[in-house]
Amino acid sequence: MLQYSRQPLVAGNWKMNKTVSQAHTFVNSLKEAVAEVKNAEIVICPPYTALFSLNQVLKGSNIFLGAQNMYYYEKGAFTGEISPLMLQEAGCRYVILGHSERRIYFGEEDTLVNLKAKAALRTGLTPIICVGEQLADREAGKTEEVVQKQLIGSLVGLEPELCQMVVIAYEPVWAIGTGQNATAIEAQEVGNFIRKLLVNNAGKKGAEKIRLLYGGSIKPDNMADFIKQPDIDGALVGGASLEVTDFSLIIKTVQEVESKCQQLF
Ligand code: 13P
Repeated sequence: MLQYSRQPLVAGNWKMNKTVSQAHTFVNSLKEAVAEVKNAEIVICPPYTALFSLNQVLKGSNIFLGAQNMYYYEKGAFTGEISPLMLQEAGCRYVILGHSERRIYFGEEDTLVNLKAKAALRTGLTPIICVGEQLADREAGKTEEVVQKQLIGSLVGLEPELCQMVVIAYEPVWAIGTGQNATAIEAQEVGNFIRKLLVNNAGKKGAEKIRLLYGGSIKPDNMADFIKQPDIDGALVGGASLEVTDFSLIIKTVQEVESKCQQLF
């Protein structure tokens, strides 16, 4: 059953896909396809190059913008990096931090994710902090250990009021881009574990407010199972967020399940 105090969130992580013109074509169709969706928050996270102009196209719509990464200084000699202030000006409301591809290919660790999370919140951006175990960790029974370390490391030193504003995405690395999703029950188990840990950072009420997403091979036909879980409040979608039909079906599934649950009350 859904927790009604938490608005479901579906975020599309485009990774390094789509030129600016491809992004515009996509967004113009998506806007139409999801125009009636009210119960779910919709976010797209395109490459940096498309952010500013997409913000103009998305004005007045129900789709918000997020970035896929950022650095933690406002400005300075950090060649190739982008600051939270720049993202905010470009129209971002969200920023994905600590994605496993950042951790694996670019050596990002929890301490860096932590600095970025603090900088994002200071600037008014909502961080979507990603945690998740590798296949070897799961096979060794270390899922909770790994997730706990990443979560604690990413949130250390954040005041409870700020902490309750973050979004946490549980993305098991072995499920990303493999077509091998975790089961909804597995995701719920880890989600519940994360929520219990969050009590230490955000207090009991604060932890109840934090939205937890599942990510890893989400498709239109498996979304319903995940969103029905009490601790899963949405999805961080990779591959399926690149196609308007699939992405809008995923969003509509979330909205439909949410509406059905509300009718029960
Ligand atoms: P896929 O949906 O392609 O498995 O990617 C998930 C992901 O990494 C989202 O951040």
